[in-house]
This record gives sequence, C-alpha cells and structure tokens, in this order.
Amino acid sequence: MIFYFSGTGNSAWVARRLAEGQHEPLLSIAAEMDKSGEYKLKEGEKVGFVFPVYAWGPPPIVVRFIRRMKTDKRPDYLFFVCTCGDDTGRTAQVFSSAVAQKGWQCAAGYSVTMPNTYVSLPGFDVDSCDVESLKVQNAVARVRYINEEIASGVRMKHFSCHEGAFPFVKSYVLRPLFHALLMSPKPFCATGACVACKKCEEACPVGNIKVEGRPVWGDRCTQCLACYHVCPVHAVRYGKMTASKGQYKGRLLKD
Ligand SMILES: Cc1cc2nc3c(=O)[nH]c(=O)nc-3n(C[C@H](O)[C@H](O)[C@H](O)COP(=O)(O)O)c2cc1C
Repeated sequence: MIFYFSGTGNSAWVARRLAEGQHEPLLSIAAEMDKSGEYKLKEGEKVGFVFPVYAWGPPPIVVRFIRRMKTDKRPDYLFFVCTCGDDTGRTAQVFSSAVAQKGWQCAAGYSVTMPNTYVSLPGFDVDSCDVESLKVQNAVARVRYINEEIASGVRMKHFSCHEGAFPFVKSYVLRPLFHALLMSPKPFCATGACVACKKCEEACPVGNIKVEGRPVWGDRCTQCLACYHVCPVHAVRYGKMTASKGQYKGRLLKD
C-alpha cells in the first residue's frame, strides 16, 4: 500500500510512479482521513508514505494520519519518499519517530528534489523554468532508482535524504516556530481580480475552501498553497508577501 499527500502535484506524481513500480495500491491520505483508518495488510506487503517536506519535516496531516491508522499486522517493510524543493533537514528522523510511536520501524527513506512551491516568506519563490526542468529531469531518474532499490528486496535500514546545512536546527528549532507562526489560514485572501472560477476550491486537498462570490478559507488548512498556485489570474494572496511571487503549475509532470 502506498499512502500519499500532495498539495501541488509533485508528490502525487512520485507516488503514482512508485505504486506502479511496486504493484501496490495507491491511497490518498486526504481522502482516507474521512474513513475508518483500518487496513488489512497482505503477507510481505510494503507500506510506503509519499509526501512533500514542509518546514523540514512531514506535513502535520501525514503525522496525524499515521497516529490514527490501524493495521491488522505490523508492516513488514515500511518506507517513505519525500519531495522537497531544496533540503529535508531531519525529516527522516521526525518521520521515523512518528512510526516508532506505533511500534513500527521505518526501514528506508528517500528524498526527491522537485520544483519548489513555497513562496510565503521573503526570499522564497518558485524556480526558474530552467531549474524546474532540470529538477524534473533528474527526478525521473531518481524515482526509477528508488523503485529499483525497493523492489530489489535488500532490507537494510537505509536513509538517502538531502538534509542540507544545519538540519537539526531546521527540523527541531525552526519547524516548531513555523507551526506556531506560519500555519494560519487567516492571511489568505483573494483580490478583486478573482473570477470565482472555483479552481482553488477544487484544488484544495482537504476541502477547506468554499467559493461564495470569493473564496473563503476554513480552519483545516495544510499550507500546501495549492489554492495560490492554481489560481488562473493570480488573485490568491497569502498576506503581503506573495503578490510579486511566481506560480507553480506542474507543467512538466507527465505520467
Ligand atoms: C508550507 C511549505 C513548506 C515547505 N518547506 C520546505 C522545506 O522545508 N524544504 C524544502 O526543500 N522544500 C520545502 N517546500 C517545498 C515542497 O516540499 C516541494 O516543492 C514539494 O515537492 C511540493 O510537493 P507537492 O507538489 O506534492 O505539494 C515547502 C513547501 C510548502 C508549501
């Protein structure tokens, strides 16, 4: 079984390739959150989690999902693949602790560098077209390698993530600050350019937006920024920071 969460499509693209390569069913965490959370595992079945890195760790929705998940047996082989724009910090350790709290062991974890989607703070923007295409080109080979390694049956505990500089500080000091200060949906708004096309409502993975003339954000926001990037007229804003930022359309992600 492969469980995935994705805001803007990068992790969904990786997850589809992994599910196909491992011949495992693919389940959306956002959709599964509304269900019982009980799963029957076949003998030797692999359990994989695919998600974007948010503030040098797994998105909180992924951790919440793992906490409430129930399986009939302990997963034989549990792994994760995270997508990141730049670096993962200690995502592998944060994820491993979340599964260890259930008595499970994370056997392997990989990162795949993909186009960046974080734009809400100064200094962060989407990638140039050249960087975007280079990242996607490299990601094709990286996912093929991950698929082959997982399928090979070699079961050594193994993490291959691009941690970057100061990973401990990023994941254990800055990440809690991000959660406390930068997860609020309140700064979201739509300018007068909004055409009420409902694309933001449709793109929100957790059904947190209702368009009634203009979009209204509820309080279940995951900060994935799907609403911002999908807007055809760049009307969605997150405070004052995003007016001059680019949008990521996932144009190179073909199956
Ligand atoms: C709220 C938020 C936080 C992010 N934090 C990080 C980060 O800490 N490190 C990183 O390399 N990329 C970060 N990114 C970029 C995403 O991890 C990356 O673009 C990912 O591939 C998006 O996946 P998705 O399209 O499946 O949502 C962040 C993006 C968002 C929206």
